[in-house]
Amino acid sequence: MKFFVDTADTREIAELAETGLLDGVTTNPSLIHKSGRAFLDVVKEICAIVPGPVSAEVIALDHEGMMKEAEVLRKIADNVAIKVPLTLDGLRTCKTLTGDGTMVNVTLCFSANQALLAAKSGATFISPFVGRHDDVGFDGMKLIADIRQIYDNYAFDTEILVASVRHPVHVLEAAKIGADVVTAPHAVIKNLFNHPLTDKGIQGFLADWQKTGQMIS
Ligand code: E4P
Repeated sequence: MKFFVDTADTREIAELAETGLLDGVTTNPSLIHKSGRAFLDVVKEICAIVPGPVSAEVIALDHEGMMKEAEVLRKIADNVAIKVPLTLDGLRTCKTLTGDGTMVNVTLCFSANQALLAAKSGATFISPFVGRHDDVGFDGMKLIADIRQIYDNYAFDTEILVASVRHPVHVLEAAKIGADVVTAPHAVIKNLFNHPLTDKGIQGFLADWQKTGQMIS
């Protein structure tokens, strides 16, 4: 399973990139606002840090407007994936862009039928939002399992990019279902490294090692 980080903070991205575990980045207008930086500058900088797909979202709601914005965004770097909303105009734009060889991430997916439409439109990625789905009393992971089954039934190439991830259990469940990608906030990815028994084990080994009076050199 691929790991993307869901942030527009380039320091967070650079830190994770150094681990070699980072396969891509997703941004959205709210994350750009949080960064306090100019959208195009941030996307350019992220694309230089991470060679994998970097999602940059269009703001226009009509096909022509989305295409104009996509033209600007895809010129930034070859690894830009244009993020479009799951609407009729969004999927029309998706069809045009992927037909042209541009990666497209279809975002704000909340039903398996929407995911089916996105795959038929040639989406590179479909982004079902599990956390926001859970927030309103649905089972976000059931959505991922349904999409996995449908995509496997018809051998769609569209990658399931689990989004709106809130905690490590979302990551675990996504991996068990066989999602292709998880995009998670920096803090959630950092949490995946942690286990209290790992910390306790390190402390125990260090204490015993010091008693040996030896050094590794
Ligand atoms: C995905 O691409 C979105 O940017 C993101 O996962 C949204 O997550 P949120 O529900 O935490 O805002």
